[in-house]
Amino acid sequence: MKKTKGIILAGGAGSRLYPLSKIYSKQLVAVYDKPMIYYPFSMLISVGINEILIISDENTLPFYEKLFGNGNDLGLEISYALQKEPNGIAEAFIIGEKFIGNDNVALILGDNIFYGNISFFTNAVKNNKIATIFAIYVKEPERYGVIEFDKDNNPISIIEKPKEFVSNFAVPGFYIYNKSVVEIAKKLKPSARNELEITDINQHYLTQGTIDVIKIKQGVAWLDCGTPESLLDASNLIASIEQRQGLKIACPEEAALNQNFLTIEKFKEYLNSIPNCDYKKYLENILKKYKDYENIK
Ligand code: G1P
Repeated sequence: MKKTKGIILAGGAGSRLYPLSKIYSKQLVAVYDKPMIYYPFSMLISVGINEILIISDENTLPFYEKLFGNGNDLGLEISYALQKEPNGIAEAFIIGEKFIGNDNVALILGDNIFYGNISFFTNAVKNNKIATIFAIYVKEPERYGVIEFDKDNNPISIIEKPKEFVSNFAVPGFYIYNKSVVEIAKKLKPSARNELEITDINQHYLTQGTIDVIKIKQGVAWLDCGTPESLLDASNLIASIEQRQGLKIACPEEAALNQNFLTIEKFKEYLNSIPNCDYKKYLENILKKYKDYENIK
């Protein structure tokens, strides 16, 4: 089975969140109790990915480096790359060419938050042949890339922010490809909004008949954090669930431990680097779930 690496694209103007996004990109803004990027970051870990490239603008990159370092203490390999201008999502594959090498790549957008049973994402990463994208039912599809299906449920086209109604199925910001995506990205022409569009890549694969489109079932939430209102809604939702359950959503340390990316001993070492706070208490509590915890205490 081919290895899959992960890219998080976490730059962009984020102008709808100004002045929250004045100093650094919006993916560092808090969604309840952690920075927004923790959510897509944890998701990559949860689907079994431990080599991650974070792409951002010049201003924000040093903040991410400070936040995550090289990731080795969690059993990860994190590297960083610059996107000089917001030239579009598809440019991530050109910037990440060396990183991708001969492997598969899963790209997640730094402001996309998924919640619910996401095991189908893990399976999709394992089973990706050439390209795999997802379709999720939304009320306002015109804000996204949208997939048109024929009456037999086959995808027939993908349109970026359609002006006329096409369907309610939006393409969320999590995409899986084999290395062919790099050459396809290089051949793209900028769109009317002067960006290299991820939708053009997906439409290319659709025309070739090499894309798998997986409809996400009801019960999985895809949250938007692009405006002050949606950011607050996302924070409130995460807060309610976390407070009710006493379990965190998108805790990268927990995800890495669950994936066996690090040993319990290393996890305990890592805990020493965290100041005394509720987050640390949570992480200490996680350890109690593990049988061999008592032996190494
Ligand atoms: C981008 C993509 C769009 C996708 C969306 C998911 O939109 O172009 O196809 O549905 O991300 O978040 P943008 O954030 O550039 O408006």
